[in-house]
Order: sequence, then structure tokens, then C-alpha cells
Amino acid sequence: MHKSIYVPAEDSYLMSRILKEQIPLLLNKNINLKLLEIGAGSGIHLQTAEVSGVKKENIFSSDINKASVNHCNILGFNCIHSDLFKNISGKFDLIIFNPPYLPDDLREPPHSKLNTTGGKKGNEIVLKFLKEARNYLEKNGEIFLITSSLSEDINFEKLGYKAREIGCEKLFFERLCVWELKII
Ligand SMILES: C[S@@+](CC[C@H](N)C(=O)[O-])C[C@H]1O[C@@H](n2cnc3c(N)ncnc32)[C@H](O)[C@@H]1O
Repeated sequence: MHKSIYVPAEDSYLMSRILKEQIPLLLNKNINLKLLEIGAGSGIHLQTAEVSGVKKENIFSSDINKASVNHCNILGFNCIHSDLFKNISGKFDLIIFNPPYLPDDLREPPHSKLNTTGGKKGNEIVLKFLKEARNYLEKNGEIFLITSSLSEDINFEKLGYKAREIGCEKLFFERLCVWELKII
């Protein structure tokens, strides 16, 4: 795997666990569940979605890092190069994003910033994502999004989403949560 691709870590494993719990429930309601992952990285969640029963032709993904796109394509997944939704079209039942969520740290090397840094306060990329994501959700569609206690809190309601925490993990220095978001 190219060295710029995000190596799955605690945040990835938390998202994986949630997907293994939630995807079967979603498939019970809709066997043709259409999933989009923004920022697919190593493709870990695309593989989890497939083994959890999402039809491979219904799994879509993107990354801003061309090495990730290439890697996920080699794994056999539909993955395109895109900055958030720029090159995405269509609507999805489930959009997942384990974003870069940390506040800017000048000591961090540029190649890993793409994976980890969400902006000055940490939540800038997520805010941009949330403003656009609603246009790509099917009616009754939902988003699974990771946030970290190290970045500034997000007022989901103000952005037009009903939010529910569906899984959190306390690490040594931060608390990670997966949020289920639905359009209000
Ligand atoms: C924390 S990593 C998560 C990777 C993988 N989904 C996982 O959970 O292991 C964040 C991913 O988002 C990608 N990314 C960063 N900014 C992005 C943007 N503006 N649009 C699309 N992808 C982006 C990075 O290249 C990286 O692959």
C-alpha cells in the first residue's frame, strides 16, 4: 500500500464495528442499499460493506488522494478521485465519512495532514461535507460520521440534521464518536 494511504487505526475500527452492527439492519429494510464512502483510504469500509451484504455494484467511494483511489480500484471497488462531492453524482441511502478531524498541528508532516487535519479548528472539512451531503441523500437516507473530542463541537441541528450517537470510544487522549445523521 502506498505510504500516503491512511493505515486503519482506532477511528477506522470504530467505524467498522458500527458498520457490522448497522448494515444488516439497514439491509433488512432495503436490500438494494446504495452506499457512498467519502475518503475511502485503504478501502477497509468498502470491504466491510461487501462482507456485510451490500451488493458490490451498490458500493461507491471516493478519495482526494489518488493513491487511495488507485488502491481501492485494484481491490475491485468503484472509487473516484474527488474533493468531497465535487465529482459525485446520484443519491445514496447511506453516506459514510471518517474525516480528517484534527486541528492544524504545525509539527505534522504535509503528507499525513491530508488524512488527519480538518482545518484550524479541526471541523472545517466536516462542516463543508455536511453542507453538501444533504443533496446526495435519498429520502430517508442517513450519514455515519466520525467526530473527535479534539476538534470543535458541531451543531448538527443548526445544519439541518437530526443527530444520534451510535457508538463511541474513549481513547487515552480523545473520545471518538460515530453519529447517525438524518435530514430534519
Ligand atoms: C482518517 S482517513 C480515513 C480513511 C478510511 N476511510 C478509514 O476509515 O480508515 C481520511 C480519508 O479522507 C481522505 N480525504 C481527506 N480530505 C478529503 C476530501 N476533501 N475529499 C475526499 N477525501 C478526503 C483522505 O485522503 C483519507 O483517505
